[in-house]
Amino acid sequence: MRIFVAGATGVVGRLLIPKLVHANHEVTGMTRTAERKAIIEGLGAHAVTGDALDREGIRSLLEDIKPEVVIHQLTSLADRDFVQNTRIRVNGTRNLVDASLQSGVDRMIGQSVAWAYEAGAGPASEEVPLDIVAPAPRRSLLEGIVALEQAVSKVPQHVILRYGLFYGPGTWYAGDGFMAAQVRQQRVAATAGVTSFIHVEDAANAAFLALDWPTCTVNIVDDEPASGMDWLPVYAHALGAPLPVAQTEHEPWERGASNEKARRELGWQPMYPTWRTGLPTSVRSIDGGFGTPDS
Ligand SMILES: NC(=O)c1ccc[n+]([C@@H]2O[C@H](COP(=O)([O-])OP(=O)(O)OC[C@H]3O[C@@H](n4cnc5c(N)ncnc54)[C@H](OP(=O)(O)O)[C@@H]3O)[C@@H](O)[C@H]2O)c1
Repeated sequence: MRIFVAGATGVVGRLLIPKLVHANHEVTGMTRTAERKAIIEGLGAHAVTGDALDREGIRSLLEDIKPEVVIHQLTSLADRDFVQNTRIRVNGTRNLVDASLQSGVDRMIGQSVAWAYEAGAGPASEEVPLDIVAPAPRRSLLEGIVALEQAVSKVPQHVILRYGLFYGPGTWYAGDGFMAAQVRQQRVAATAGVTSFIHVEDAANAAFLALDWPTCTVNIVDDEPASGMDWLPVYAHALGAPLPVAQTEHEPWERGASNEKARRELGWQPMYPTWRTGLPTSVRSIDGGFGTPDS
C-alpha cells in the first residue's frame, strides 16, 4: 500500500517505518527540515519536507503522493512545548484530515493518549468518557485530544490509538531522557496516582498492526497499570538514583487504562507486558535514544 507517515522522525515513526518498509509498503515520511530527510531515507522510505500547520502545503503534498493510508504520529514534545503540541493536535490534525479526504485517503491511524479519561475507580476502558470538563492546565490536553480524535474519525476507516506513557529508546524515560534526569535529582514524588505505560516498540507495532484493524478507538497500554508508589522506586533503582520522596496528593484522573479491548477484540499482545521488567531493562540498555533531537 502507499502509506504516508506524518511524524516519521519521532520516537514512534522511527520504529514504525522499518516495519512498513519490510512489509513491502511504499512509504513516504514527512519532516519539517531538509536535514532530517536523511533519517527517513536511512530507514528505507521516501522523504518529503512539510509542515502540518501549512494547510495548503499539506494539501498539495497529499495530492501529489496520493496515499491510501495516512499514519498520524505528529506531536511536538521534544522541547516539552505543550502549547505547540495542542496546536499540532488541533490544527495539524485538521489540515492532515482535510487533505486526506480531498486526496481520497481510505484509512487513517492516529496517535492519542490513554490518560484523558474522566476520574473514576480502576483502569479506564474506552467506554469511559473523556475528561472534557477538566480545568486548566489539563484542559489544553483535552482540547487537543478531543479535536484530534474527532478529526481522525472523519476518515471513513480509522483507528485511534490511545497510547500509554512511552518508555524505551528516545523517550523521556530513557536513561538519558528528561524523566531520568528529573528522578536523579529527586524532583518526582511517588504518589498513589496510577499510570499505564507502553514500550515505544509496542506503540510502533500497534500502529503497524492497525493497518488491518477495523475502525476503532483502542487503548494501547501494558498489562499492569501502576501507582507511582510502585513504579517510581523500581525506575529510580534502575537509574541508580536516590529513592523518590513520597507524596499523598495525586490527581483523581490518574487511574491508568485497560488493554482488554485490544487483547480480546483485536488479538493484540504487548511484547513488553509490564513496565516492571521492561522499564528497568530499557534504562540499563544505555542506548537511551536515537541521538539528539536534532539528529
Ligand atoms: N504517549 C506518550 O507518552 C508520548 C507521546 C508522544 C511523545 N512523547 C514523548 O515526547 C518526546 C518527544 O517525542 P518525539 O521524539 O516523537 O518528538 P516530537 O517533537 O514530539 O515530534 C514528533 C514528530 O512530529 C513531527 N512534527 C512536529 N511538528 C510538526 C509540524 N508542525 N509539521 C510536521 N511534522 C511535525 C516531527 O518531525 P520533525 O521534527 O522532523 O519536523 C516528528 O517526526 C519523547 O521523549 C517521547 O517519549 C510521549
